[in-house]
Amino acid sequence: MAEFTLPKNSKVKKGKSISAANGASNTRTFHIYRWEPDSGENPRMDSYEIDLDKCGPMVLDAIIYIKNEIDSTLTFRRSCREGICGSCAMNIGDTNTLACTRGIAEYKGDIKIYPLPHMQVKKDLVPDMTHFYAQYASIKPWMQTQTPAPPDRERLQSKEDREKIDGLYECILCACCSTSCPSYWWNSDRYLGPAILLQAYRWIIDSRDENTGERLDDLEDPFRLYRCHTIMNCTNTCPKGLNPAKSIAEIKKLLVTRAM
Ligand code: SF4
Ligand code: SF4
Ligand code: FES
Repeated sequence: MAEFTLPKNSKVKKGKSISAANGASNTRTFHIYRWEPDSGENPRMDSYEIDLDKCGPMVLDAIIYIKNEIDSTLTFRRSCREGICGSCAMNIGDTNTLACTRGIAEYKGDIKIYPLPHMQVKKDLVPDMTHFYAQYASIKPWMQTQTPAPPDRERLQSKEDREKIDGLYECILCACCSTSCPSYWWNSDRYLGPAILLQAYRWIIDSRDENTGERLDDLEDPFRLYRCHTIMNCTNTCPKGLNPAKSIAEIKKLLVTRAM
């Protein structure tokens, strides 16, 4: 049987371990992936025991506490701290999620935190999103029309048509779904992945957009769309409760329907 092993310089080593101050009774230990590209050293897992009485209730609060009070070198992204910007997406306790919407109390015991899986890492918990955003740009995520806009008002939509983008417009492009998708892990150079396909469907189904045919043409490709094998990791992991797998299935249905 084939044996797989990580290249020597990718093996994650044990890093430093920092205990909470004497007297702390309500503590939790966070094991956090660290990698500094300029150091030439392997990635490592650093462990921080923190006093929960001194930090807020969410996992992001703990990470911010570590950075502010224990180790200022820890690097991560965050902005809104309320599940809107998507920038604090990371792998916490073996699931891709948003650090700001996950309570520390939701986890039992020590908490392990890694960057989103199968992405190039820029530093510590910061993945390189360049390719993901380029894929997003490739689906032209804006309204495309041929007819002129009404002179005196916006392009209107019926209540029923508006409801068709419910469950789509809420996507915050955090990439939790795409980076949980095995097909995306192995083929992200050509497969668009669930996040971008959900966004593509958002424009395909928008009654005001007039480029539906061209959008479908762009997706009718064995890799860009059809690498989805309905494994459902994407839907199971979405921290916003969205269903990218359903969007992908709907795109496939539209392609079948128009071919008939
Ligand atoms: S579908 Fe969900 S998991 Fe995927 S990018 Fe959008 S919000 Fe994030
Ligand atoms: S349903 Fe498709 S997109 Fe979602 S995880 Fe599975 S293969 Fe990936
Ligand atoms: S900080 Fe914006 S989603 Fe978590």
